[in-house]
Amino acid sequence: MKSAIVIGVGPVDGLGAQLCHRFAAEGLHVEVAGRTKEKLEAVVASIEKAGGSASAVVADATSEADIEALFERTGDSLDLAIYNAGNNTPGRIVDMEAQYFEQSWRVCCFGGFLFGREAVRRMAPRGSGTLLFTGASASLRGRSFFGAFNSSKGALRMLAQAMAKEYAAEGIHVGHMVVDGAIGGEKIKTAFPDYAARLGEEGMISIDGIVDGYAFLYHQPPRAWTFELDVRTSQETW
Ligand SMILES: NC(=O)c1ccc[n+]([C@@H]2O[C@H](COP(=O)([O-])OP(=O)(O)OC[C@H]3O[C@@H](n4cnc5c(N)ncnc54)[C@H](OP(=O)(O)O)[C@@H]3O)[C@@H](O)[C@H]2O)c1
Repeated sequence: MKSAIVIGVGPVDGLGAQLCHRFAAEGLHVEVAGRTKEKLEAVVASIEKAGGSASAVVADATSEADIEALFERTGDSLDLAIYNAGNNTPGRIVDMEAQYFEQSWRVCCFGGFLFGREAVRRMAPRGSGTLLFTGASASLRGRSFFGAFNSSKGALRMLAQAMAKEYAAEGIHVGHMVVDGAIGGEKIKTAFPDYAARLGEEGMISIDGIVDGYAFLYHQPPRAWTFELDVRTSQETW
């Protein structure tokens, strides 16, 4: 049985969880990784209820030991690895603590390096595999009050692009998904209800639509690989 690792999994109605669902439905065993055990177990339970196979793994994306241990679980079966961790970190630079900026970089960039490195270490000897990274509007442009997040997501995108070029000849497809706007999932709806209400359902990106993009990248043949997809709603001004 082929397996997948998805790190950055939270609520069932979230992007990370729905990526796990989709690839479990496609027959992969999914290692469901994130920080909060209860959330991971709820995702695994819902996958198993739907007939899929998954395990919950508590792992912090910024911990080298956690990421190495996470990849130890899959052995040669690893076919897909998705780096989905990444919290928005707003704030004016002039007021920002150094540690806050560094933590943003650790989650959005450094963690992507640790994760990507362990993925290619396992995929390259076999000569196949897919490694995908989740980006945001922040991946493409700097914006006032978002300097920490923009710089770390931008760096993650450049890491992904470098890896796409460095490992393509070894059979590894590296891709990056620019999620350009708010996702219509639990995160925005519960943490920012006023913002979600202002946007309305039509103004928030469909999780299923984003997941379709990941599945498209995963299934591309080596003679027609895409590095990057962007998704936004029809309402988005960009
Ligand atoms: N939400 C949006 O509107 C939006 C828009 C554009 C792009 N994105 C991107 O989409 C991805 C998914 O984000 P999401 O917020 O919507 O949530 P999500 O996919 O539902 O869940 C992501 C989970 O990542 C976990 N996480 C955060 N830091 C981590 C770390 N250091 N190690 C392991 N797991 C960690 C969090 O777990 P805990 O619950 O334990 O904190 C969070 O629940 C992110 O890369 C984000 O930048 C989101």
